Amino acid sequence: MKYAHIIGWGRYVPNRVMTNDQMAELVDTTDEWIFTRTGIRQRHIAGEQDTTATLAFEAAARALAVANVSPSQVDLIIVATSTAEYAFPSTATQVQSYLGASNAAAFDLSAACTGFVYAVNMAWQAIATGSVKNVVVIGAEMMSRVMDWEDRQTCILFGDGAGAVVMQGSSVPGGVIASALHADGSGGNVLSLPNVYKNHAAIMSPTYELNGADKNVVGMHGRQVFRFATSVVPDSIREVVAKANLTVKDVDLVIPHQANSRILESAAKKLGIPEEKFYSNVHRVGNTSAASIPIALCEAIDEGRIKPNDKVIFIGFGGGLTWGSTLVRWGSKAPDELKLLEREWKRTRYVMARGRAKLRQWGRQLSAYFTPSPNPDARLKDAEKDKDKKKGVD
Ligand code: COA
Repeated sequence: MKYAHIIGWGRYVPNRVMTNDQMAELVDTTDEWIFTRTGIRQRHIAGEQDTTATLAFEAAARALAVANVSPSQVDLIIVATSTAEYAFPSTATQVQSYLGASNAAAFDLSAACTGFVYAVNMAWQAIATGSVKNVVVIGAEMMSRVMDWEDRQTCILFGDGAGAVVMQGSSVPGGVIASALHADGSGGNVLSLPNVYKNHAAIMSPTYELNGADKNVVGMHGRQVFRFATSVVPDSIREVVAKANLTVKDVDLVIPHQANSRILESAAKKLGIPEEKFYSNVHRVGNTSAASIPIALCEAIDEGRIKPNDKVIFIGFGGGLTWGSTLVRWGSKAPDELKLLEREWKRTRYVMARGRAKLRQWGRQLSAYFTPSPNPDARLKDAEKDKDKKKGVD
């Protein structure tokens, strides 16, 4: 049995910040209303050139640098996202190409804001069976492209960004210890984002006229989501702690999905643990859906909130409805030591990866040009000629 350790991490949020005051120029709201109801002060909004895959790539490249793992050593890339640019190719295969991770399989995983927790679980299972060694798990979202910017209940909540971890198989005990995943499809209407678009390409373009009739946007029943979240967060934490034969008091830090600070306050109260045990950065980044837990994890590490051997819980909840927790015993290296390993990640390597991808595209075009047409009429004629030849011989 192999243990799955988190040995690298990275985050990327676009530079552009939208404050609550700026939001109030778009919809009828105030900084005070948003902050008191949600704890959010600002969110990051992607630029015109960004895509979900480019955000994911930036986070993954940083995580690989911390892990000191080269892209060619990666066996699997999982991207948890609800805002994939295409149904196919997946965001994960785009990231695979950008990284030049030529030995990696890649797929997207859809579990809304719980996506990262689901993806870590899948990576853990794959590592435990011995079928893979190094897995890059990414949560990446471009929520700003699927917002109804006239709906003040939803557009104030979400932001863009990506976070990634590198998970590695090892015989040393530790890493992921327990995990519990759940879903309840009867609540699918509570939080939803349709993705069969009338005009998909136009919608995903950043210059698309927002709020056009054919734009698909997030729909939400806020109160129902709130009630659901405040009930599943404490239950899920209790469940994963029990699976690991620990108690809630043994937990050093909870990295929750960053949806709303009031959800976290309520969960801490129900569990009888201090609120400080719930890491929160929702005021800085808003709700970045599947990206929120890995972004928060990176910030917690940077702030020295995680020490070697700490028991850390990731808890996610969101559309589906889905929810789940993972309990991790943190690695033995102190974050400071690991920071020393963090080099300026090798930009040239990734420029070359893009060059190689372009060459392969041209190669495929050329070889298709010289390949005989699989036209069925031509094949029929060939078969008839063969028959005639045979008759002649007889
Ligand atoms: N600014 C100002 N007023 C707003 C507003 C905004 N951005 N959004 C809603 N309102 C108004 C409503 O119109 C309503 O006004 P009315 O009483 O005159 O009709 C009033 O505020 C209360 O609206 P309501 O929707 O009942 O507010 P709420 O207390 O439930 O708070 C949320 C709304 C969205 C903040 C809250 O339900 C919530 O946090 N839900 C969870 C959402 C979430 O986390 N989603 C992601 C999960 S992954």
